Amino acid sequence: MKNFEIIKKRRLAKNVCEYTIYAPSVARHCMAGQFVILRTDNDGERVPFTVCDYSRSEGTVRILVQEVGYTTLKLAEMKEGDALCDFVGPLGKPTDLSEYAKICLVGGGIGAAVIYPQAKQLQLEGKTFDVVLGAKNRDLLMYVDEFRGLADAFYPVTDDGSFGIKGFVTQELERLINGGMKYDCVFAVGPLPMMKAVCDVTRGYGIDTVVSMNTLMVDGTGMCGCCRVMLDGQVKYACIDGPEFDGHKIDFDEAMARGKLYAEHEHACRLRGGSWK
Ligand SMILES: Cc1cc2nc3c(=O)[nH]c(=O)nc-3n(C[C@H](O)[C@H](O)[C@H](O)COP(=O)(O)OP(=O)(O)OC[C@H]3O[C@@H](n4cnc5c(N)ncnc54)[C@H](O)[C@@H]3O)c2cc1C
Ligand code: FES
Repeated sequence: MKNFEIIKKRRLAKNVCEYTIYAPSVARHCMAGQFVILRTDNDGERVPFTVCDYSRSEGTVRILVQEVGYTTLKLAEMKEGDALCDFVGPLGKPTDLSEYAKICLVGGGIGAAVIYPQAKQLQLEGKTFDVVLGAKNRDLLMYVDEFRGLADAFYPVTDDGSFGIKGFVTQELERLINGGMKYDCVFAVGPLPMMKAVCDVTRGYGIDTVVSMNTLMVDGTGMCGCCRVMLDGQVKYACIDGPEFDGHKIDFDEAMARGKLYAEHEHACRLRGGSWK
């Protein structure tokens, strides 16, 4: 087996693929909440993906990838048996929810990749936790059966009502809290506006909230400054200080503005035909 070889590739939705990569050095050490940075080839960009699952005995790491631009489309063209050029990790700090007794994991879209290993970990630890998972429609709702098997209660939500409850994760979360659920921690991951909205809900109820920041990244070592976030007025780097932070302290407006810094460049890339070429 080649290092960083794609052992298995599984298409889960029109624009979402799951890859199992042979990477024993990463599999040996990685934990829930951490991520890798990969390059498809020598000319490739460095792109971060959450460790969605791993097998220490088989030396494999699984990532769940939504095709949104240059590298993710390039990756989608690779086949089982092809090898990535780099697969560096594990990076970032592992999730630590040890101080909490009743947790609600809230995932939006591809955020399922982050809460899936957490759900497995929490179940192993014997913790009580619910999962609220939201997506635009049924096709984009990932790992439904797996979450149902892991969580104490699982609440799927879709914008269009094609599966589960119609609406947004924030509405469902608020309904659960108002219905008497005594969460002492909410963990949220998804698009920045969604995480901001979750924090706005939980702030009102005084519930600790942890978010996973999917900022733009380059080196992943704290050197380039690209993944900077403002936490209570202090500069933090998502790659080394995070990616998980106290959501009530994050300046989401600043993070959203930074996320759009290269939008024009990416748009130009898409105008070249919606492909990486
Ligand atoms: C710690 C971390 C973990 C992540 N885990 C996953 C994961 O498990 N699965 C997954 O599909 N994606 C994940 N992402 C996001 C992923 O890195 C981006 O989607 C990817 O870099 C896009 O690369 P691209 O070259 O295909 O797109 P580009 O051509 O660079 O950009 C296309 C579009 O994607 C947006 N984009 C670019 N980078 C990011 C980013 N970091 N976060 C959100 N939007 C971005 C751009 O603003 C643009 O609209 C993660 C990001 C971080 C920081
Ligand atoms: S990615 Fe460069 S400092 Fe975090």
